[in-house]
Amino acid sequence: MSDKAKLVLGEKTIELPIFTGTEGEKAIDITKLRAETGFVTLDSGYMNTGACTSSITFLDGEVGILKYRGYSIEEIAEKSSFLESSYLVFYGKLPTAQELKAFEERIASFDDVPEGIKQQIKAFPKNAHPMAVLSSNMVSLSAFYEELCAQDLTPAQKDTAIAQLMGQLKVVAAYAYRHSQGKEFVKSDKSLDYCSDFIHMMTGDKNVNKEVAKALDILLILHVDHEQNCSTSSVRMVGSSKANIFATISAGVDALWGPLHGGANQAVLEMLEEIKNSGKGYEAFLAEVKDKNSNSRLMGFGHRVYKNFDPRAKIIKVACDKVLATLGVKDPLLDIAKGLEEVALKDEYFVSRKLYPNVDFYSGIIYRALGIPTNMFTVMFAMGRLPGWMAQWKEMVEQPGFKICRPRQIYTGDTKNTYKDIKSR
Ligand code: CMC
Repeated sequence: MSDKAKLVLGEKTIELPIFTGTEGEKAIDITKLRAETGFVTLDSGYMNTGACTSSITFLDGEVGILKYRGYSIEEIAEKSSFLESSYLVFYGKLPTAQELKAFEERIASFDDVPEGIKQQIKAFPKNAHPMAVLSSNMVSLSAFYEELCAQDLTPAQKDTAIAQLMGQLKVVAAYAYRHSQGKEFVKSDKSLDYCSDFIHMMTGDKNVNKEVAKALDILLILHVDHEQNCSTSSVRMVGSSKANIFATISAGVDALWGPLHGGANQAVLEMLEEIKNSGKGYEAFLAEVKDKNSNSRLMGFGHRVYKNFDPRAKIIKVACDKVLATLGVKDPLLDIAKGLEEVALKDEYFVSRKLYPNVDFYSGIIYRALGIPTNMFTVMFAMGRLPGWMAQWKEMVEQPGFKICRPRQIYTGDTKNTYKDIKSR
């Protein structure tokens, strides 16, 4: 195949370079298209737009493959840890034992937030959604750490930024939860691993069940990065203006919150509860979902990229059974989820649209079994995705030819109006 694509526009034929990724993905490089022809591309929802090149995560949605830096998600989930895989995506290689220890200790050293942040968390209503508390406090951190708000961070400042944000996001998340419960904040304990400490800061109990901490660690690993999803693209978009790293990450939290993205894990649980409480059968619920006038969706199903299966969902389903068995939890919502999945996977509507369970379908049931409340689910997703956001931001700002993200549009509005005085409108 030629390394050029030919585009015929009326009388004119132009050649566009073809770019091939390391996994064989092909793209037509249209960087010079407008300059040479006056045309831009139109791709609503970025269904078919490669917004960047990246060496962090590869996913092949047709086959159900996900790799971080070339390592399969199955192997990482089985053998690695959340902090090790965070190091991997951020620094581009697996750490040595010494590097991992230093990374873990550095993150653990950010075991608190400034007094002003604590006051701000306390000022929120008790029923505030923890994603609101998280987002606003992530950006507020920029008011306290001026040196990390420089336009261009040095390598050492980037090292600080990843450790500090990973440490402090955990603190803000746990404090937000404690505040919602009307309880005092619990100080972090450096002797505990990341996940155990987070559970300890939520519950106040240092005796964290190892299986519970391990299950949480796996869930976080599965969320570490997922290439150019909505929140990561938001991070790249905001970061490309050289907004500071706290503001950039806060934008990722906001984008994640929506129910079509990370907010789906909360929505799945609410949907399963609704099915249970209403006594609706699966068929009746699915009929509603399939009805185009209903506006309802089978939450936790479908994915923009995965059209075969979501490999994260496969791992989570197995983990879910294991966690519930280990903890001796019998959750009727799990039976409903399994029943729904079984019926949906045989239903022509879902089959023809290639809709399969995604990462959010079973994750909520595990969080619930671990004692994490429903409105904290998306916060857990943010905690897991933070290293991916940081890695994507670092990669972007370090890439030669780095530019502010600024898409084009095709204007479809009125072309010539004449201003009328307000009294005559
Ligand atoms: N339930 C019912 N119908 C669906 C669903 C669903 N969950 N997802 C897609 N469809 C239908 C949709 O109505 C459309 O049908 P038609 O062609 O007849 O109009 C078709 O499938 C294609 O859907 P789409 O909305 O054009 O697909 P998309 O790629 O834009 O959306 C999605 C992907 C994930 C937003 C969507 O599948 C969805 O809303 N799923 C439920 C929310 C969810 O679970 N989100 C979490 C995604 S995984 C976590 C993450 O990384 O964000």
